[in-house]
Amino acid sequence: MPNAIESVLVENRVFPPPPAASAGAAIGSMDAYKKLCLEAEQDFDGFWRRQANENLVWSKPFSQVLDESNAPFYRWFGDGELNVSANCLDKHVQGGNADKVAIIFEADDGKVDKITYRELLGRVCQLANGLKKLGYKKGDRAIIYMPMSIEAVVVMQACVRLGVTHSVVFGGFSAKSLQERIVDVGATLVVTADEQVRGGKTIPLKPAVEEAFAMGGCDAVRQVIVYRRTGGKTAWVEGRDLWLHDVVAGQSEQCDPVPVEAEHPLFILYTSGSTGKPKGVQHASAGYLLWSLLTVKWTFDARPDDVYWCTADVGWITGHSYIAYGPLAAGLTQVVFEGVPTYPNAGRFWDMIARHKVTTFYTAPTAIRSLIKASAAAPDTAPDRYDLSSLRILGSVGEPINPEAWMWYHKTVGGERCPIVDTWWQTETGGHMITPLPGATPTKPGSCTLPLPGIAAAIVDETGADVDQGNGGFLVIKKPWPAMIRNIWGDPERFKKSYFPPELRGYYLAGDGAQRDADGYFWIMGRIDDVLNVSGHRLGTMEVESALVSHPLVAEAAVVGRPDDTTGEAVVAFVVLKGARPEGDEAAAVAKQLRDWVAKEIGPIAKPKDIRFGENLPKTRSGKIMRRLLRVVAKGEEVTQDVSTLENPQILDQLSKSV
Ligand code: WT7
Repeated sequence: MPNAIESVLVENRVFPPPPAASAGAAIGSMDAYKKLCLEAEQDFDGFWRRQANENLVWSKPFSQVLDESNAPFYRWFGDGELNVSANCLDKHVQGGNADKVAIIFEADDGKVDKITYRELLGRVCQLANGLKKLGYKKGDRAIIYMPMSIEAVVVMQACVRLGVTHSVVFGGFSAKSLQERIVDVGATLVVTADEQVRGGKTIPLKPAVEEAFAMGGCDAVRQVIVYRRTGGKTAWVEGRDLWLHDVVAGQSEQCDPVPVEAEHPLFILYTSGSTGKPKGVQHASAGYLLWSLLTVKWTFDARPDDVYWCTADVGWITGHSYIAYGPLAAGLTQVVFEGVPTYPNAGRFWDMIARHKVTTFYTAPTAIRSLIKASAAAPDTAPDRYDLSSLRILGSVGEPINPEAWMWYHKTVGGERCPIVDTWWQTETGGHMITPLPGATPTKPGSCTLPLPGIAAAIVDETGADVDQGNGGFLVIKKPWPAMIRNIWGDPERFKKSYFPPELRGYYLAGDGAQRDADGYFWIMGRIDDVLNVSGHRLGTMEVESALVSHPLVAEAAVVGRPDDTTGEAVVAFVVLKGARPEGDEAAAVAKQLRDWVAKEIGPIAKPKDIRFGENLPKTRSGKIMRRLLRVVAKGEEVTQDVSTLENPQILDQLSKSV
């Protein structure tokens, strides 16, 4: 993040919560916040026991709260049983909210479709019955590769109703990424759509599934169920492929939820790490559900008449916790959007907020930054042209929000009346960890402020010792929490190594650098590992490097991040070809080829923004690539550090030239 370090040094504006936000809020003052923190500190077990009993519907109550006997493989509420879908749907249908709208779906072309909790439950049950008839049951794994739709939520909920563990693959990921996940997770079911529609364009999905199958390794998959979104053409394998509407046809709208153990894997979601292979982050049922619900109540101060809108895709953790699970468990009415913020124009978000009277809006800094630019270029699409008076809370997620974007969000979108909750968390944490509470926490632009009650966040040095206030260090969580990652699917060793390095005394290592100010506020400085954050999406530099070197023309590649005004960070690739270093038109042609290749290997989000060709890469005499140097070169800055240990200093000159 470009300005994080400067921000913590110069940012001194403080915005206390407006009185209207505190009145009647779930946590309405700093005193109320501190009281909860103290409760968790003094009686950790009792605090979580109370939350789990008050917030979840159990089919079999738990007796033990936390089992640490096999740390770091923690177990929460281990002997309890419940069903997540029953907690998201049946609870409201039976509790008098059957006819409340659960989802307001807006398609790319603006068509709106509303579904009540009763209808949603009916559709989830029909599909669950259809899946049951096909032989799917608790313990099976399903890959979901779908566009933003009511159907995607229905499929996720139908899986968990049966105890089928799902793994959602973002629709923007390539066939290759899809295939790797199908294989790694051992899926027996794939649910997809014929095509997705975004920004007025159709993008094929089912054809990518065909490509994935052609790559091999997918033989365990018995069925591919296809949601017909557009009617676009696709190959069809008789006996394997089924239309979603055929699977649900004639099925009953009742299906008993299958109770599962609290620790039953609810889902597996892949995320980038510092090696080439993405990690399958495994989440448990009860603890995850509890935290996604509780954070919706606390961070978004959920109220019965809210219209809540999280703009994430269900392919990311944000779309799991804050679309598919938390808001439903809280019984909210939420907007689900198929399209993109800039279609038909850059006023789309504001127009939707005005039309649906959205009260709670949760988006990413990268979207905010691009809309700042867009509305400057086309003032007709600026927020002030729309009636945004329904808004009450604004949220930010995915990367540090720079103070300029924060102030614009605050003034132009929030009319200086809506608290901004800058929520720090990760795929692995399951839900918010460090965030302001809209009715309690005074905010500072660029800081995610303070940890939620029960979350033991701290900043330590490489020995695990607390660092002094004002000094930077590793962000850790000292105690387990219910929604924490349980394992890396199929790789417990990597789980231990990545998150619980022995020198850090058993603390959970987040992988971010951070600093606290005099008020104890956290300021996130960015990743400490080889992970980039591009538009709020995590990308491993090694992942992009392996994609590049798998191209027949490439001998060697190194990838680093560079601060970017819009996307936060941008991918810069330094490439050595097997043949001669290309120049001019040839260089441009090869660069395009490599970009397309990376899009095909991983997905378009991983495409390098900038490619530089060299005859070699800067290496130490022992042959190590000097990434620190490459980061300087990527920014276009002059290399001031000592390069005398470099084997080949003249290479830097070549690598400073973008194609
Ligand atoms: C990484 C996690 C959290 C869901 C979406 C991304 C960065 C996330 C913030 C924030 C500063 C943030 C961190 C983190 N990050 N939110 N509010 N302020 N940085 O989940 O893909 O697992 O990425 O995103 O670097 O480690 P993810």
